[in-house]
Amino acid sequence: MVQRYIQFLGLDDTVNLLKANEKPLTPSIRVNTLKLSALDLKQRLEEKGFELEQIEWVPYGFNVIRASHNLGSLHEFLQGYYYLQNVASMLSAIILDPKPNEIVIDMCAAPGSKSTHLAQLMGNEGSLILIDKNKNRIPALETNLRRMGIINSIVLNMDAIDLSELNIKAEKILLDAPCTGEGLIRQDPSRKKNKKLRDIEKLALIQKKLLKAGLNALKEGGKLLYCTCSIAPEENELVINDVINELKNFAIIEISEKYGVNGLTEVFRTHLIEDLEFSQRLYPHIHNSIGFYFCLIKKLD
Ligand SMILES: C[S@@+](CC[C@H](N)C(=O)[O-])C[C@H]1O[C@@H](n2cnc3c(N)ncnc32)[C@H](O)[C@@H]1O
Repeated sequence: MVQRYIQFLGLDDTVNLLKANEKPLTPSIRVNTLKLSALDLKQRLEEKGFELEQIEWVPYGFNVIRASHNLGSLHEFLQGYYYLQNVASMLSAIILDPKPNEIVIDMCAAPGSKSTHLAQLMGNEGSLILIDKNKNRIPALETNLRRMGIINSIVLNMDAIDLSELNIKAEKILLDAPCTGEGLIRQDPSRKKNKKLRDIEKLALIQKKLLKAGLNALKEGGKLLYCTCSIAPEENELVINDVINELKNFAIIEISEKYGVNGLTEVFRTHLIEDLEFSQRLYPHIHNSIGFYFCLIKKLD
């Protein structure tokens, strides 16, 4: 893993990344504005002894600087007033920007961090189709939907590679692809060693199939956000490069805000589509986050 990182980050940044991966991540919460305002929740938690700091990119998100209780055990948590979610994950729904009247699909939804956020941005209106292949993860998704008061969604336990069977075309699609989770080492140190290059190659095949299925389910002018909690180019730019080169009528588009650094356009001695510079990478050592990747793709009219 380290040898691969040195190839696209260089030695100094790789060392800084490895050091940052050893530092604990500040917990963060997303206020469920379907139920109460960010200010109301802030006041309630501060009265209980919490110290919260506004997240720059998310008006209803807070870093938890000091916690007087376990964040998952508060009455406010059980009432669905907030979701424990890292900042990088919060950005996915914000970038996709779903609207209340749209058909929106979350292809890999469980346990629902991003799905409940999509519903929040849709004002609990429109149609939100939530898919996950793993039956064992569906109860957690349903519990989170209930807790957060989401009523504009349906849950489908199926393989999203078969999306065309639903015969639905969507304005917005989120593909938070299954990945090695190499970006999550800060939260889970076991991820340093538990995946081999062969696992990355297997996942890349699935990621490409999922991406093709998602793009083919977009309406004309519709947008798909591909994201992973991995910084491995094989799971990100290389997946998109292959699929965009194969399918016609899709363009990688610029994300309106600059959150991270540009995606790679050359890696492992391979030149990639130039527009991949519009995709963005978040790194623990630069952005004090988990490692994350976003790429916004549009179906042309
Ligand atoms: C990165 S996790 C999703 C996390 C979720 N988006 C969230 O924010 O809470 C990836 C998910 O993809 C699901 N998955 C893997 N392969 C799939 C497939 N072929 N079709 C649908 N879901 C799949 C896994 O079960 C897992 O729940």
